[in-house]
Amino acid sequence: MNTEFVKISVNDGIEKYTDAAELLKNNQVVGMPTETVYGLAGNAYSDEAVNRIFEAKGRPQDNPLIVHISEFSEIYDLVSEVPENAKRLAEAFWPGPLTMILPKAERVPLSVTAGLDTVAVRCPSHPIARNLIKSAGVPLAAPSANLSGKPSPTKAQHVYDDLKGRIPYIIDGGECDEGLESTVITLATNTPKLLRPGNVTLSQLKSVLGEVQVDDAVLNPLKKGEKVSSPGMKYKHYSPVAEIVLVRGSYNNFVKYVNDIQCESAYAMVFDNEGEGLKVPYISYGANDYKNLSHSLFDSLRELDKLGANICFVRYPDESNDDNLAVLNRLLRAAGFKVIDV
Ligand code: TXA
Ligand code: MG
Repeated sequence: MNTEFVKISVNDGIEKYTDAAELLKNNQVVGMPTETVYGLAGNAYSDEAVNRIFEAKGRPQDNPLIVHISEFSEIYDLVSEVPENAKRLAEAFWPGPLTMILPKAERVPLSVTAGLDTVAVRCPSHPIARNLIKSAGVPLAAPSANLSGKPSPTKAQHVYDDLKGRIPYIIDGGECDEGLESTVITLATNTPKLLRPGNVTLSQLKSVLGEVQVDDAVLNPLKKGEKVSSPGMKYKHYSPVAEIVLVRGSYNNFVKYVNDIQCESAYAMVFDNEGEGLKVPYISYGANDYKNLSHSLFDSLRELDKLGANICFVRYPDESNDDNLAVLNRLLRAAGFKVIDV
């Protein structure tokens, strides 16, 4: 399959979306930018489109998709009930990087929800994503547009690298602002529960909802046989080819540890303005605050593969800062929860 790669800018008129909308109406799939990461979009009401998404990504069939809408009011088509908490969250954070899980409406196919009776809904803020949803005239199911297991794509080129020949069309809307997937919260439980941390932070959620639980799987590996609240938590994720090892401790101890280790093609991933004293090549993944780290984390993980890294030792973000929860969650999964204290 030939993969078209089309640049669209936020100022372009709606006529630019004709080809992508036509494909979506024909139950084909399209790579689209959002403010978080690139998504692989298809008509959420079409089993055929949804199956194409799963196939192109090589995604396990039991991992449900997020459905994207362009206006809050469209949520009424997707869920059986809109509780007050959902309205409050939408008021505070939509359009934006927050996904809410709610009991699904009958018309949402089980292929989208992987058989669950709940559906994940998000209203993205990226103008290109919203224009595309409007042009297609239907809500768009869209997981991150990476091959299953790889780091999420934050540039159109990442989508192309992973999915060329597997999908017909990619919209290049430039680099994603956030760089990290949306926060996922379920409102289908008695107490709202955070399932995946993101750039809408836990303290922001609490400021709107009061009590919010945090699912164990956010920072801990699953115990054998444990039932998951969100199927995505089961899988190794965000992994480059290189083995990722998190190293927790002072910079000096990090340098000593890394310099003592004899591994072929070893790299280090450090914070901005670090690197002094390291005998292995290193890349930086931003300043040690969550906005910076989240913006370039996935790009840096993909960079390691381009460099041919076998193993990479990564500086551990400041975990006393709650805002780092999202970056820590992704890094722990990329590392398969391997953390070394120095
Ligand atoms: O920022 C984002 O959320 C991006 C962009 C494209 O919008 N999308 C994204 O989708 O990250 P994906 O498929 O990579 O992650 C969706 C997560 C998965 O962990 C999945 O298991 C969970 O949401 N999820 C979806 N529906 C669910 C449901 N009904 N109940 C529990 N978890 C659900
Ligand atoms: Mg994903």
